[in-house]
Amino acid sequence: MAETITITDNRTGEAVEIPILNGGVDSKEWSKLLPGVWFQDPSFGTTSGASSAITELDGENGILRYRGYPIEQLAQHSSYLEVAYLLIFGDLPTPEQFEAWRYEITHHTFIHENLRKHFMEGFHHDAHPMGMLVSTIAALSTFYPEAKNIEDPSVVMKQVIRLIAKMPTLAAGAYRHSAGMPFVYPDNSLDFAANFLSMMWKTAEPRYDANPVLSRALDVLFILHADHEQNCSTTAMRTVGSSHADPYSATAAATAALYGPRHGGANEAVIKMLNVIGSIDNVQSYVDAVKRGEMRLQGFGHRVYKNYDPRARIIKKTADEVFEVTGKSPLLDIALKLEEVALSDEYFLSRKLYPNVDFYSGLIYQAMGFPMDMFTVLFAIPRTAGWLAHYIELLDQDSRICRPRQLYIGKPEREYAPIETRNGSQAG
Ligand code: CMC
Repeated sequence: MAETITITDNRTGEAVEIPILNGGVDSKEWSKLLPGVWFQDPSFGTTSGASSAITELDGENGILRYRGYPIEQLAQHSSYLEVAYLLIFGDLPTPEQFEAWRYEITHHTFIHENLRKHFMEGFHHDAHPMGMLVSTIAALSTFYPEAKNIEDPSVVMKQVIRLIAKMPTLAAGAYRHSAGMPFVYPDNSLDFAANFLSMMWKTAEPRYDANPVLSRALDVLFILHADHEQNCSTTAMRTVGSSHADPYSATAAATAALYGPRHGGANEAVIKMLNVIGSIDNVQSYVDAVKRGEMRLQGFGHRVYKNYDPRARIIKKTADEVFEVTGKSPLLDIALKLEEVALSDEYFLSRKLYPNVDFYSGLIYQAMGFPMDMFTVLFAIPRTAGWLAHYIELLDQDSRICRPRQLYIGKPEREYAPIETRNGSQAG
């Protein structure tokens, strides 16, 4: 049987048959029959906002692939820098391509002294690092005014390299400022994750060598967070990018979208929740309160995964490796119990609520010594590669500016009343 859908306009009796392609229908076909009639879909739950060749996500079956490569294979064999190359260019690099890419990224990690001295140091001592990150990314556009020339792919690529390279420097700089510690300059002899850890933790030693298990674990977490198709922040990136804003301004907007507790802020919320639960004995009563609708189980549920998030499975394994080095987090037992109770409860099973990427990542970050308000920053560093891959794709596709329709639900037309005639009851 043909995979089509027929829509009939009952006002005129006219009908249109639209093919169902890859599980969806093209709105242009719909518009041919019904110009001016639009879909009401405020959170885009049933709207595909982009055609993309970057990340394939099958939420029903718990599958995630970057450019066709299963996330499990990339997490096991690859590095974040290689994955960033894959996302941006579409294929894994040859040894020569990788070396050139690694060299470029490594040699763009420094930030302008004015940005550090005058801008970052101007923040209040207790400024949230995500607020600092959003602002400093946006400020980069003022240091590289040529970034506005988005018509030139070589100019765009230069900003892509700068952004991927400078994110760890900005992130660690935000932390050092809030900790009252001096800024640590990048060390070009270290790889991406080890260099970030050096900029975070170096004190008086001439060179900071991170524990290799911890720097590899962080690199794996960077791989897992590098892209996730049309999530809230990527949609922000594509929406802002569709106005042809420069890559820094668009990335700042995407980072702001990531900040919220429903998105990249959830890993912080998970630790707060585990602290509130406090002990294994309280897990059942907490789950009962969640079921009564009093709160949500943080790190559970996902708009598209209706199965175990494949990233959560890898993170759980990575957590074991990290705890071997750091010692076990006291919150781990509560998390394991919570997962066990939730996954045997009809409420969570019937709603297909499983642990997502954020359920265990916060425990790893905490064990590695990161303060809680750095957790979302740790998400933003690698997601930058994904955001920029989407930005480049959007420009290549020459997409129209994003401009959805609106259902107006406000007052009908009314007459302006001079202020002296108003008594506060102007309802009509
Ligand atoms: N705890 C308890 N119930 C939940 C949860 C949860 N975490 N998530 C969804 N539900 C229930 C919800 O109450 C609703 O029940 P009912 O049908 O009885 O009204 C049903 O499941 C469907 O929920 P929804 O609100 O329609 O789901 P959504 O797709 O709009 O929300 C979500 C997705 C991720 C925002 C949500 O699951 C949530 O708030 N989770 C907790 C926060 C979290 O872990 N966020 C990280 C997401 S993964 C990382 C990332 O991409 O940023």
